[in-house]
Amino acid sequence: MAKVINPADSIEKNLPAELVAFLQLAGKRAAARQEKLYLVGGVVRDLLLGKTNLDIDLAVEGNAIALAKEMADKQDNITVHKNFYTAKIRWHDLYIDFAATRRETYANPGALPTVSPSSLIEDLIRRDFTINAMAIGLTGQDYGLLYDPYNGQEDLINRGIRILHDKSFIDDSTRIWRGLRYEQRLGFQIEPHTLELLKRDIPMLDTVSADRIYYEIECILKEELPEKVFKRAHALGILKKLHPDLKADSRLDDRFPQAREVSFPHRPSPALYMALLTYDLNITEKEELNSYLRLPKLIAQTMRDSDSIKSRFKYIATTGIKRSEIYHLLYDYSLQAIMASIIVAETEEVRQNLRLYLDKLRSIKPLLTGKDLLKMGVTQGPHMREILNSLLDAKLDDRVKTREDEERIVKNKYSK
Ligand code: CTP
Repeated sequence: MAKVINPADSIEKNLPAELVAFLQLAGKRAAARQEKLYLVGGVVRDLLLGKTNLDIDLAVEGNAIALAKEMADKQDNITVHKNFYTAKIRWHDLYIDFAATRRETYANPGALPTVSPSSLIEDLIRRDFTINAMAIGLTGQDYGLLYDPYNGQEDLINRGIRILHDKSFIDDSTRIWRGLRYEQRLGFQIEPHTLELLKRDIPMLDTVSADRIYYEIECILKEELPEKVFKRAHALGILKKLHPDLKADSRLDDRFPQAREVSFPHRPSPALYMALLTYDLNITEKEELNSYLRLPKLIAQTMRDSDSIKSRFKYIATTGIKRSEIYHLLYDYSLQAIMASIIVAETEEVRQNLRLYLDKLRSIKPLLTGKDLLKMGVTQGPHMREILNSLLDAKLDDRVKTREDEERIVKNKYSK
């Protein structure tokens, strides 16, 4: 069971001192404007869990844009959305969001909400889950006070994900994906009634634009263990909303950790994860998924490349294959697709040759350049590329070592 944490202590303990000072100053300025300022959403949840979260969302009962302008040190550090009563400022290397407390109404399921100013309590009820519907006061007497009208703290303690009202997933079905993400990230459980409604409302995912669904997928890919979310989505019949043949089974438990290993010290790119998630779909199915989600070009290409490399596995594993041949089989493909293929390859020969390409062959270049060839009297034209290619092959296959070796090849070719 998680323990109850004092919000004011947690702010001091889990946020950098300079940021605490910024928040206190913002609180004072809001008070001077006769307005109230609060920390809201994910940062409150995490502070109550004793965790640092630098994704700062501030809610203002008043004019959020004016307060943000007062807090931004240079005018170009601020982006304003008048229609939504919000402003984002860049503060050091963080983005801080200021939003007026607001009411949201949905014209129809899946549509973006219509926004109008409201009280903090109304602002909190429009949110996705009780654990995200809390605020901490930052003004005057209010400083460090927890606002928790929907018992989010109790759900944090009991480790439950709970929606605030029965139409929540209908209003915004991206919350289905969000619920799974929080559940798996925090090691919580979606509580039974919420789970029942979540399952009931899976068809509502059809009402949401592809952009919004892909945004949720991107958020999942940034999680520490995205495979847990996809496996849960598979078990609940949500994953097939992306594509009916998409599966997230125990293979992900092997593939995703390997993706983290090969990408270390960085996080795996979304392209690598997506290539692995969709690896077992055929190319038509991949294209269907791609056109539904309108995936970024790099990701779609990595998925295609992975498919094409798969069809080359038998050549890559040929006994006695030359290094130059491996190079030409692979050089057109994205690195992420080659990484995905290394992870998925079933034979050691394929894996070794893919690794050889990735670690070594792809960066090999002849010593002589086009300029050198011109100096040697080679005239411009398609034969120039041919000569450079044969130099590269010779280098890849270890037939040349020195500049003189390469010059000999040029003279030989050119005289022909
Ligand atoms: N929110 C919501 N419904 C959504 C998206 C967001 O109610 N579909 C609310 C939640 O209160 C959430 C807040 O807006 O806490 C901020 O959204 P976001 O930054 O996406 O969520 P975080 O809770 O900050 O999530 P994370 O920890 O993943 O950054």
